[in-house]
Amino acid sequence: MTTDIINRRWVLTSRPQTTVSPRNFELQQSPLPDLREGEFLVRNHYLSFEPAQRGWLNDVPSYIPPVAIGEVMRSMAVGEVIASRHSDYQVGDRLQGGFGWQEYAISDGRGLFPVTRIAANIPMSYPLHIYGLTGLTAYFGLLELGRPRAGDTVVISGAAGATGSTAGQIAKLLGCRVIGIAGGQAKCQWLTDELGFDAAIDYKSESVDQRLNSLCKNAINVFYDNVGGPILDAALVNLANHARVVLCGGIASGYQASELPPGPKNYMQLVIRRSRMEGFIVLDYVDRYGPAIEQLQAWVEAGQIKVKEHIVEGIEHCPSALAGLFAGANFGKQLVKI
Ligand SMILES: NC(=O)c1ccc[n+]([C@@H]2O[C@H](COP(=O)([O-])OP(=O)(O)OC[C@H]3O[C@@H](n4cnc5c(N)ncnc54)[C@H](OP(=O)(O)O)[C@@H]3O)[C@@H](O)[C@H]2O)c1
Repeated sequence: MTTDIINRRWVLTSRPQTTVSPRNFELQQSPLPDLREGEFLVRNHYLSFEPAQRGWLNDVPSYIPPVAIGEVMRSMAVGEVIASRHSDYQVGDRLQGGFGWQEYAISDGRGLFPVTRIAANIPMSYPLHIYGLTGLTAYFGLLELGRPRAGDTVVISGAAGATGSTAGQIAKLLGCRVIGIAGGQAKCQWLTDELGFDAAIDYKSESVDQRLNSLCKNAINVFYDNVGGPILDAALVNLANHARVVLCGGIASGYQASELPPGPKNYMQLVIRRSRMEGFIVLDYVDRYGPAIEQLQAWVEAGQIKVKEHIVEGIEHCPSALAGLFAGANFGKQLVKI
C-alpha cells in the first residue's frame, strides 16, 4: 500500500555535549513499510521547533525520556492522513502529533504526545504554537503563577519569541505595563510598535541592569523568565514587594549536558522583597487546555493577540532550525515546512 513512497527522516546519531549541530543527526531515506491493521499514514506539513528538544538529546532524567540514538528526532508536527487502516482516522483528516522530523509518519494514534484533530477553520500550523503548547505555556505560566493585576509592571525575557510575545500580549490585555527583553533592535521595535509593549530592552546592545533600573526600579510585580542567567539576576534586583517570578525556561543555559547553569546570585532579593519564584511545566494543566485554547483563539480572531511565524522550507534544515533557537535566529515561532 505504501512501499512506493520514499520517506526522508532525521535520525539522532550522537548526543551533543554543547551546542547542537547537524553532525549529531543523519538524513536517511527509505521506502515506507506497509500499514498494519490499526495504523495510519500522515504526510507532515509543518514541524515544530522548541528549545526543549535540545534538552531531550541529553541522556539525563527529565519529565520525558531522552531521544534514543538511532531514533527519528522527536518533534510535534501537523499533517494530513493519506492512507489509513485505523477506524478512527480517515484519509484527509488534519492531525497534530509527535510525528517527528520526517516527511511521513506511521502512527497508531498513541505515543508520548496524543494525536489530536485540527479544526477546519484554523490555520494548519497554529496548533503547533498559539493554539498549542506555546500559547498554553504563556497563558498558564502568566495567569496561574504570575497572577498579574491591572496596573502591574510585567517584565518578560525572551519577549520576542513565540512564548514570550504571547505572554506579553496577554499581560497588556489585562491592563499591565509590559517591558520586554529581546535580542536586537528589530525585535525590540516589533514589541513596542506592533505588539504595544510599553518598552523593550535590547540585551545584545544595552545594559539590562541599567535599563531595568531606569524603567522599573524596585517595581517589577511579575517577571516572566524564559532565559535565566544574568537577565534573571538583573530582574531580581528590581522586584517590587510581593512580586511573582515565573520560571518558564532557561534558554541562556543552552540546555546543555556538559555544564549546569549558574544559580541566581541575587536570590536573596526574594527574601527582602517577600517574593515568590516558581517553575512549572505546561503539561500540568492538560485538563484545562480546552477553555484556554478557546480564549486564545478568541483573542487571535479579534486581533488582540498577533502571531508571528518564522518558516523555513525543506526538511534538510531541521538541525539548523533547532540550533538557531539558541542564537536568536528565529523571529517568531520556528517552523519547518515540508
Ligand atoms: N515550562 C514549560 O512548560 C515550557 C514549555 C514550552 C517552552 N518553555 C520555555 O519557553 C521559552 C521560550 O520557548 P519558545 O519555544 O517560545 O522559543 P522562542 O522564544 O520562540 O525562541 C527562543 C528564543 O530564545 C532567545 N535566546 C536564545 N538564546 C538566548 C540567550 N543566551 N539569552 C537570551 N535569550 C536567548 C532567542 O531570542 P533573542 O533573539 O531575543 O535572543 C530565541 O529567539 C524557552 O525557555 C522554553 O524552554 C517552557
